[in-house]
Amino acid sequence: MRGLKNKIAVITGGLGDLGYATGVRMAEEGCRVVLLDIHSDSDNRAATIGAYFWPVDISNEQAAQFACAAVEKEVGPAHILINTAARFVFKGVEATAEDWREVNSVNIGGTSLMAKYIVPQMKKNGGGSIINFSSVSGFVGQLNFATYNATKFAIRGLTKCWAQDLAPFNIRVNTLCPGYIYTKAFVDSCVKLDLDIEAENERASAMHLLNRQGKPEEVAAAAAFLASDDASFITGSDLVVDGGYLAK
Ligand SMILES: NC(=O)c1ccc[n+]([C@@H]2O[C@H](COP(=O)([O-])OP(=O)(O)OC[C@H]3O[C@@H](n4cnc5c(N)ncnc54)[C@H](O)[C@@H]3O)[C@@H](O)[C@H]2O)c1
Repeated sequence: MRGLKNKIAVITGGLGDLGYATGVRMAEEGCRVVLLDIHSDSDNRAATIGAYFWPVDISNEQAAQFACAAVEKEVGPAHILINTAARFVFKGVEATAEDWREVNSVNIGGTSLMAKYIVPQMKKNGGGSIINFSSVSGFVGQLNFATYNATKFAIRGLTKCWAQDLAPFNIRVNTLCPGYIYTKAFVDSCVKLDLDIEAENERASAMHLLNRQGKPEEVAAAAAFLASDDASFITGSDLVVDGGYLAK
């Protein structure tokens, strides 16, 4: 991908399946990668790919501000922000005020706070690229998914607004919308719910035209593209990486 060498890329949810895969790809592209996550990096996964790591709860404004300041001070002003951090709260009409607070405060609030404190750094650089992770769940209704899907729809909305606000500063803002991706989180949830992993994988695969779940590296490749100069005329868009899920 063009224009990624030596760029500073900040990835929230950087220890998650998709955030880490994106970190690996951005490092391969020559970026200086910063992973942020609420969990501590006890296995030194950031160091394995030559990335920086700071633990931060992005839903806490002071903590988000502090982490972004640390990025600028220790690494330099960021060029790329990739917001993958999310809470997975799946509730229907029975959702409580606490459920809404939990899911909104990270998926919408945390994403917004990170942009608030990274955008001034991008302005110093004369431009940048923000990639907000939405989902196919940001396009359609799904059974008992109201809390999660509402945030994924909202991320598409705020992305289009920021694209307008930030275009004068040469900052592009897009969403990346994966279909079902075969991740550790998928396997763990099957184990937790005592479901047969192979049967669940077949069920999820059948929802996609390509009859399989995606791979984290396929999402990471799309994130690298959106961050790069190869996507220089793309802003305010949704890049759907879903093996044909939404086309059905
Ligand atoms: N995995 C899929 O099939 C899939 C499909 C569509 C969209 N997505 C989207 O991709 C993104 C990443 O998903 P994933 O599968 O890698 O999930 P994941 O659970 O593996 O990763 C999410 C990461 O976010 C971190 N996080 C949560 N709250 C945080 C907070 N307050 N501050 C900082 N970090 C926090 C978690 O610790 C975790 O490491 C999410 O936005 C999700 O909605 C995933």
